[in-house]
Amino acid sequence: MTQDSKQINIALLGLGTVGEGIYKVLQKQAPMMMQKLNTNINISKILVRTPAKHVSKVSDPSVLTDNYDEILNDPSIRIVVEVMGGIEPAFTYIRKAFEAGKSVVTANKDLIAAHGSELIETAETNGCELRYEASVAGGIPIINPLLNSLAANEITEITGIVNGTTNFILTKMTKEGMDYEPALAEAMRLGYAEPDPTNDVEGFDAARKIAIMAQIAFHTKVTLSNVYTEGITKVTSRDISYAAALGWVIKLLGVARNTEDGVEVRVHPTLIPEDHPLASVTDSYNAIFVHGDAVGDVMFYGRGAGQLPTASSAVSDIFTIARHQASHASSVARDSVFRSLPVKTIDDTVSSYYIRMIVEDRPGVLASVAGVFGNNSVSIQQIIQKSKINDADSELVIITSPIHERHIKAATDVFKTSPAIREIASIIRVL
Ligand code: NAP
Ligand code: HSE
Repeated sequence: MTQDSKQINIALLGLGTVGEGIYKVLQKQAPMMMQKLNTNINISKILVRTPAKHVSKVSDPSVLTDNYDEILNDPSIRIVVEVMGGIEPAFTYIRKAFEAGKSVVTANKDLIAAHGSELIETAETNGCELRYEASVAGGIPIINPLLNSLAANEITEITGIVNGTTNFILTKMTKEGMDYEPALAEAMRLGYAEPDPTNDVEGFDAARKIAIMAQIAFHTKVTLSNVYTEGITKVTSRDISYAAALGWVIKLLGVARNTEDGVEVRVHPTLIPEDHPLASVTDSYNAIFVHGDAVGDVMFYGRGAGQLPTASSAVSDIFTIARHQASHASSVARDSVFRSLPVKTIDDTVSSYYIRMIVEDRPGVLASVAGVFGNNSVSIQQIIQKSKINDADSELVIITSPIHERHIKAATDVFKTSPAIREIASIIRVL
């Protein structure tokens, strides 16, 4: 430090995958930060549940504490970085940080999706900043671009692969023929998955991320309950093989659209052409397409999970707040919600559909299937029939023309009452 350089003390809440990444990046980048900011960013406290477990991770173990009050009551700590995860006690700790005049960086999408607006309001009331770049798509800058760089646009669509774990699993199943369970175990070993991977594989993690982005992009409240959510646990290797034969791959997509009749926000496995740019986004990589009326299409691509990529986003938020604090700039949190748009149900969205059915193998069944679709306004684009998958049954794969989902549901309700239809094995939307 030079004589006129400054120091900003920060505290980490959590020293797990992401917390340790932030610690490493700040240590490594300290000289560069000093040159960029003329300010030393010093981690003066780290909150964990079990300090003894973390001693080997830090150069000065006296920074470790299991008592949040030590951070809250230390006026020299200006920025609190929450990387513990979960709703409580993270929610309470962050509110208390604002009330104590401390700004906050968080990677916690569960919390931002559930209580983001409330936290922004508390930050604003207390003249503090809340930054959450790391909460969506790990290392990819997307929150700050939506809030700032693309602010000149009416954004009408966001489509993305926003969960690294499920993209990793689908890639392993597609390219290496790996089974689901070992692919999930590998994603967990690599630190991509949440401690309980249910949120990843059932699509809830992606749902939180698309809800956060949709709310910022469309300036209307989007809650988790507005997001239709389907995960990858029902995707089978049989569907992956059919997809390949048809020139498609299966990806878990988050889709948010601002249409004339309302906003739609959904997460589900989706068939996309293998030459679509999102098809080449593999392993734990994420990618997000944004369409704005002025800019047209932009795509953001990079590591959506993992220690250092996520730390990259969190440290850039720390850096931004430190710069504001060092220059005494006023940059309080502001909510981007200023209107109330209707949110559509999944029944009112339009897609083409891939439907795989097991049917009785006898004359007339194919004609009756086609009749049920026709009676429900569903137009068939393509049929593949595999005769005799066992002694009595054959398998049909039907691709429909684009249609409102309620018509597909009406047709499948009829099939459920028909003895000739043994099973509707899969229904996957087509991009
Ligand atoms: P993690 O490895 O499980 O680490 C959590 C850390 O928080 C641990 O050090 C734990 O301390 C501490 N902690 C948890 N509850 C606490 C409590 N009540 N009091 C004090 N300390 C507590 O989690 P992570 O993977 O780093 O994820 C952290 C956050 O980043 C989550 O919100 C996650 O969704 C988000 N995120 C993660 C990734 C990723 O790739 N992992 C990417 C983007 C965003 P002990 O070890 O002592 O128990
Ligand atoms: N579990 C998440 C994922 C981590 O797999 O994308 C990043 O939020």
